[in-house]
Amino acid sequence: MKTESKNTEAARKRYNRIAPFYDFMEGLVERSRYSGWRELLWSKVEGNKILEVGVGTGKNFLYYPAHTKITAIDFSEKMLSRATERARKLGMEIALQQMDVQNLGFEDGIFDTVVATFVFCSVPDPIKGLKEIKRVCKPGGKVLLLEHVLSANPVLSFLMNLVNPLVVRTMGPNINRKTVENVANSGLKVEKVTDLAVGIFKLMEARA
Ligand SMILES: C[S@@+](CC[C@H](N)C(=O)[O-])C[C@H]1O[C@@H](n2cnc3c(N)ncnc32)[C@H](O)[C@@H]1O
Repeated sequence: MKTESKNTEAARKRYNRIAPFYDFMEGLVERSRYSGWRELLWSKVEGNKILEVGVGTGKNFLYYPAHTKITAIDFSEKMLSRATERARKLGMEIALQQMDVQNLGFEDGIFDTVVATFVFCSVPDPIKGLKEIKRVCKPGGKVLLLEHVLSANPVLSFLMNLVNPLVVRTMGPNINRKTVENVANSGLKVEKVTDLAVGIFKLMEARA
């Protein structure tokens, strides 16, 4: 992608490197926790024109509601090729596109719901990405995010800030993002935040 910033290029290359191992790395936690959270999130989508940003290897495909038209984007070509393979195996038709959430190539206000799971821990400029989501979502449309955030516990947040650079370099995501605050600061209207586990994993429901 030609016009991306240095930070974005570095983040994209990191996910290209991680792509072959991503499903394996997340396997245990996927089965024990994430799958139930994904199901909960997808039960809340509205309308039938849905955008998933940061689709990764397509772990949400199993939870896509029937009779919806889903477009899914990711900036990592290697993650996308895994998603393409998963869609093929599942016999699903999903419009997959390589795109940066910080610069979406869609017209204003065309999606009923926009979804992202475990994405805003990695987006280099999260507010820019969230503003783009607001732009492409219909006015009053739904935005659903499943994210891990910085703990409010002072000891835990100190440790999370301390090890964050190492986690970014080895695995990709930042573990010290304040995504609930970022959502509010992007102009989206936060309607509900559900704590899913240990004050770190959150389901956020907002409106454009
Ligand atoms: C931790 S993975 C999560 C993948 C998937 N959503 C899931 O729940 O398994 C983060 C994904 O977000 C993508 N991503 C990060 N920053 C992005 C950006 N600026 N634009 C588009 N995709 C991005 C990464 O390439 C990666 O596939």
